[in-house]
Amino acid sequence: MRILWRSLSFRIIVRNQKALGVRGVVTSCRAVVLPRFGGPEVLELRPDVEVPSLKPNEVLVRARAVSINPLDTRMRSGYGRSVFQPLLPLILGRDISGEVTAIGASVRSLSVGQEVFGALHPTAVRGTYADYAILSEEELAPKPVAVSHVEASAIPFAALTAWRALKSTARITEGQRLLVVGGGGAVGFSAIQISVAAGCHVTTTCGSQSIDRLMAAGAEQAVDYTAEDLELAIKGKFDAVLDTIGVPETERLGINFLKRSGHYMTLQGEAASLTDRYGLAVGLPIATAILLKKQIQYRYSHGIEYWWTFMRADSEGLNEIRRLSEAGKLKIPVEKTFPITQVREAHEAKDRRHIPGKVVLELD
Ligand SMILES: NC(=O)c1ccc[n+]([C@@H]2O[C@H](COP(=O)([O-])OP(=O)(O)OC[C@H]3O[C@@H](n4cnc5c(N)ncnc54)[C@H](OP(=O)(O)O)[C@@H]3O)[C@@H](O)[C@H]2O)c1
Repeated sequence: MRILWRSLSFRIIVRNQKALGVRGVVTSCRAVVLPRFGGPEVLELRPDVEVPSLKPNEVLVRARAVSINPLDTRMRSGYGRSVFQPLLPLILGRDISGEVTAIGASVRSLSVGQEVFGALHPTAVRGTYADYAILSEEELAPKPVAVSHVEASAIPFAALTAWRALKSTARITEGQRLLVVGGGGAVGFSAIQISVAAGCHVTTTCGSQSIDRLMAAGAEQAVDYTAEDLELAIKGKFDAVLDTIGVPETERLGINFLKRSGHYMTLQGEAASLTDRYGLAVGLPIATAILLKKQIQYRYSHGIEYWWTFMRADSEGLNEIRRLSEAGKLKIPVEKTFPITQVREAHEAKDRRHIPGKVVLELD
């Protein structure tokens, strides 16, 4: 029955490996397609979506679990339309955990059959909500052995975003003090765990239901943003602030709590929203001008460095994230799983905030 189902849902053609540089090629598979922007109802699970040929540095991954990031629901609703509109239909999804099915000719670090996890770049057009996804070698690493595919799929996009801010931008070092605004979310929780593992002292803001979890992960102070006056409750000054919320109120708070030469990093950079509003040709220069103005202004007024932070693939970072996960020092709790056939229900639940934590789609 299982074999029959599989033969119906995709066609595998094994071709001459030397001619193609890969061991086997899947030509089509099930995928969740976004034909137009809108609510969860626009998502279509199609049985026979083309799988392109692999480029030399690419890897074909049989997906077992893909997590839902806020970027997925935002893209579905039209965020980034200045870039994505001409490229519709898209496949959503950044995170993946699964097995390597085929590798491009120049791939050296991974082999067919290996269990891997990883995340695509934010602007990738062919996402991971599919039986087979294509990622580049540097976007993947061996899956942490101690965790399931579901648990592994929740980690890469969020943890790499935190990694980029902390390790590439602020370059945190042992003994430094870090403030994570919004530590209850996947990126904030990753940032707390990465900073604690690096020997930093972490303060965070979160909802009341997240306090125990964040303190157990090593935060020294967790302040309930719904009940306390943050200005009064947060103690001392910080070397870096990661603001996952990025509204004017949290930006002002973060900047005022920084030491001189400290780094303020927001995840809510305005590049996409401005290019959506004004088009790429006008929106991008406006975004660059706004960023430069803020950087100069805050350097002059507060002596601090101001950044818009974006997720970026980082092979070294992903391998370090894997090691932290294997050591039990980095995990992202999964609140609920849905089969991929219920992707609309899963998006609906995230849109309506019925499920506060991480949601993962399972592929059988
Ligand atoms: N720039 C990039 O490349 C990039 C990459 C990844 C994510 N992001 C963005 O970063 C944000 C977080 O992503 P995520 O994956 O961590 O989302 P998430 O897992 O859905 O977390 C969101 C959390 O934010 C917390 N929160 C909401 N309002 C808050 C406030 N005023 N103060 C403190 N905490 C607050 C809530 O935590 P409690 O449960 O504790 O209330 C909520 O669980 C999203 O907007 C996402 O789009 C940007």
